[in-house]
Amino acid sequence: MADIQSITTQSLADIAGAASPDALEALRVALLGKSGSITAQLKALGALPGDQRKSAGEAINRARDVISEALAARKAALDDAALDTRLAAEILDVTLPGRDGERGGVHPVSRTMERMVEIFGRLGYELADGPEIEDDWHNFEALNFPPHHPARAMHDTFYFPDGRLLRTHTSGVQVRYMKDVKPPLRMIAAGKVYRSDSDQTHSPMFHQLEGLLVDEHSTFADLKGTITEFLRAFFERDFEMLFKPTYFPFVEPGADVVIKWDTADGGSRWLEVLGCGMVHPNVLRAVGIDPERYTGFAFGMGVERLAMLRYGINDLRAFYENDVRFLKQFA
Ligand code: DAH
Repeated sequence: MADIQSITTQSLADIAGAASPDALEALRVALLGKSGSITAQLKALGALPGDQRKSAGEAINRARDVISEALAARKAALDDAALDTRLAAEILDVTLPGRDGERGGVHPVSRTMERMVEIFGRLGYELADGPEIEDDWHNFEALNFPPHHPARAMHDTFYFPDGRLLRTHTSGVQVRYMKDVKPPLRMIAAGKVYRSDSDQTHSPMFHQLEGLLVDEHSTFADLKGTITEFLRAFFERDFEMLFKPTYFPFVEPGADVVIKWDTADGGSRWLEVLGCGMVHPNVLRAVGIDPERYTGFAFGMGVERLAMLRYGINDLRAFYENDVRFLKQFA
């Protein structure tokens, strides 16, 4: 029993010196475990004479309590230290600004198309849609391109083996719309069209915006007014404009609209911006509208072409290369 005091003193020193939770646990087992030294002391009690047993038992129990408390305190201290070390290593500065994902923007072609649709929307035109894979009837025949008519050669058409084709213009949507909606009507259609053509100003895929109005008394003057208003709204300025007679099978008369465009050197030049005309009676007939009662006008324009003019872009291919440095300027 003389040992108990020195065992306690030594134990407390060992506990204070334990440098890790593992070392501390080893100490606990060596002291309080099944074959630990304190446990051995308790087991030895039975061999003592009865009059010594009580006081010796109390002394050992006290020592066990003191050691248990010291173990618990040291464990808490070691755990705290371990947590501090981890926190220091995993430091996270929540005040740092986040890494900002770059924001995308609407593509200039889409942006331009939306702008056109919006302007015509204000003039009461309904947005319509048609398929990019079209049949010959909607793309050509109903638009007064008879089979083998030389006007078909105006379009370098992509054909599928079954005779269907990639639409060469959005004019076919006029036909679809007139089959569905009875006049008076106003519609626009915007979307992709395809022609086998590729250079600085031609792309095998590009976008068009189509417009159509059919009513009992629509005239070429209405067409002129509409186009003039649109171009003014689109470019936000006034131009000298000419309607130059030209041929499209689906209109009669047909015209190319040219505008006088100021150039950077202070001069100007005439630029073709769209095609238009009075809907050909054959087109109205093809969709079951009586050309004696109704007249209409139609127009079609290249979205990229107008976007190039508006933004001062001189190579069409810039739209399709998806160079973010180019695209970012429109975001
Ligand atoms: N479809 C013609 C083209 O792709 C453009 C066009 C011209 C559309 C005159 C029209 C129009 O609706 O009346 O070149």
